[in-house]
Amino acid sequence: MNDRTTQQYIETHRERFLEELKSLIRIPSISTAREHDKDTMQCAVRVQEFLVRAGLDKAELYPTDGHPIVYAEKLIDPAKPTVLVYGHYDVQPADPLDEWETPPFEPTIKKTKIHPDGAIFARGATDDKGQMFIHVKAVEAMIQTGNLPCNVKFMIEGEEEIGSPNLLPFIKEHKEMLKSDVILISDTSLLSKKHPSITVGLRGLTYLDVKVRSARADMHSGLFGGAVANPINVLCEMIASLKDERKHITIPGFYDDVEFPSERDRTLMRNAPFDAEEYMDSPGVFGLEGEEGYTTYERTGILPTLDVNGIWGGFTGEGSKTVIPAVANAKISMRLVSKQNHEQITELFSKHFKSIAPDSVKVEVHPHHGGNPYVTPTDTKAYRAAEAAIQQTFGETPVPMYEGGSIPIVAQFKEVLEVETILMGFGFDTDGLHSPNEHFGLWNFYKGIETVPAFFAAFAV
Ligand code: BES
Ligand code: MN
Ligand code: MN
Repeated sequence: MNDRTTQQYIETHRERFLEELKSLIRIPSISTAREHDKDTMQCAVRVQEFLVRAGLDKAELYPTDGHPIVYAEKLIDPAKPTVLVYGHYDVQPADPLDEWETPPFEPTIKKTKIHPDGAIFARGATDDKGQMFIHVKAVEAMIQTGNLPCNVKFMIEGEEEIGSPNLLPFIKEHKEMLKSDVILISDTSLLSKKHPSITVGLRGLTYLDVKVRSARADMHSGLFGGAVANPINVLCEMIASLKDERKHITIPGFYDDVEFPSERDRTLMRNAPFDAEEYMDSPGVFGLEGEEGYTTYERTGILPTLDVNGIWGGFTGEGSKTVIPAVANAKISMRLVSKQNHEQITELFSKHFKSIAPDSVKVEVHPHHGGNPYVTPTDTKAYRAAEAAIQQTFGETPVPMYEGGSIPIVAQFKEVLEVETILMGFGFDTDGLHSPNEHFGLWNFYKGIETVPAFFAAFAV
């Protein structure tokens, strides 16, 4: 395996790689927005074209009930291991639009403190187009220089940001086609440039809508105020009771399947070079808070959460209206860890939430998507290959990291395909994913393209 020619190819084609990534980012492939269905389709076609141009033998679009899945493969030798790369070409909505310094779908290179070499500012830059494209370009470099050391498959979907509703049936149906020895994903974060990391834990997720109703119709707040239940007040009280004063979640049975890492691992985590200031600075938070007895890193990595994502009801227009609303709504999500099961937690939540409602209101709970947590085993050839690759290109041994985000399909890869996943992300938590001014460092992009061939080389032996 001639690593040098691969790296030379990357060096020669740097500018083109960036221009190509920009062209992909310009397509507003917002999976949740119907009006962007055509764009999302166009983005899938572009990804397919790039895979063809990279030199993959088969690159096809698989239609689903939603957005298509792009699948491609280059099989060089059945005796060699197979890497299945997963990523997503869909993005989150860009709003609030007026908080973007440059238009969300016009990739603009700007320097920042953490990205002195410049970063591409645009929706999807780091989550996940930039990170997914790392693999397309790394594989192109390996194929075009005759250095691809093992078989490779790509499965790039367009519905990750809406909970991958059509991917589970797809992987169940195409088990044989998707057969592999490891799944490789770049859709998570690095601790920092100096302290590389490999994500070994992803949280699970359950997401629900709740509705609290106290009457058939809204009422005059003078004639009825004080004599009837106000569903917004009731909803707020109910939500407030879901955590105690230590910020521990009060739903009975909620923690039954949570196993904490050993004291040894927790000590490692406490010592992880986590930069609280940078962390706070990116969204400009005024302070940090969370469950007592845990560090910030533990709070996002190994603890479950319960958060209100949105709440509405009553009068929210300009001016004032004296009204007792009949209905209040909230969107509530919980991040899950360890052995928590999202269906079971949804059950526990619904039962508990209904049980704490006063007789004056009726409560409805409507679950959305969900997914289970995932932990990558570290005593595998694949993990060691990722470690060796990062050691080689960063000059530093990566630390295992538990991350707060979720990629729900990963637990299902394990269940259905019976393959473990390596989460080798190249973004930073401070890159503003899902926020205005999302960006992806050029250094991170090129470092990723350099590291992926090193992983393939280490994994193929
Ligand atoms: N790439 C993220 C998840 C992520 C980011 C994990 C950074 C770890 C570090 C992914 O695209 C994402 O946003 N997932 C959603 C899942 C949901 C839409 C089902 C999430 O975590 O909210
Ligand atoms: Mn993502
Ligand atoms: Mn995302």
